[in-house]
Amino acid sequence: MLSENEIIEILRQDLKPKRFEHSLCVAREAKRLAAKYGADPEKAYLAGLVHDATKNHSTEKQLKIFERFGIILSDVEAGSEKLWHAISGAAVAKNVFGILDEEIISAIRCHTTAKANMTKLETVLYIADFTSCDRDYDDVDIMRTLADESLESALRYALCYMVKDLCERELAIHPDTLCAYNEILLRGKI
Ligand SMILES: [Fe+2]
Ligand SMILES: [Fe+2]
Repeated sequence: MLSENEIIEILRQDLKPKRFEHSLCVAREAKRLAAKYGADPEKAYLAGLVHDATKNHSTEKQLKIFERFGIILSDVEAGSEKLWHAISGAAVAKNVFGILDEEIISAIRCHTTAKANMTKLETVLYIADFTSCDRDYDDVDIMRTLADESLESALRYALCYMVKDLCERELAIHPDTLCAYNEILLRGKI
């Protein structure tokens, strides 16, 4: 595995300054939430640091990564370019950065769509991406308050927010997002 400093230098080169800052902020926030809720803080930090590693890659560069690592996109994925960086990011984290911890790779892989029954680490990264210090959107204060109260209520709010937002913008909803939404709404009820 590359050292943390080597990874940071690659990110500094590959990401726009704002996205690089965001990565550092998500890493810190993921570490904080992990410590609070009993996930591994160091794994959370690394997942946060790397989660957007390919976010500023061109379309061609993303497609090359899919080809190189034999990744076949589903129709929804192929039609939703915003989801690509989570898929290519997980591949780069594993094969280029040499991060072999499958839970970290999986957290990166599902950080845009979420999925049903996420582990604590996966949930922590998903929420940290909403609550990191650089974030500024209408509901950010509510999200930060919820994230400090309970990981589950933060996840519930984030998924409702995502599904509503995708519907309003007439964007496709990945099946994993729908499964995550249904699972959190029904958790404890069935
Ligand atoms: Fe992302
Ligand atoms: Fe992000």
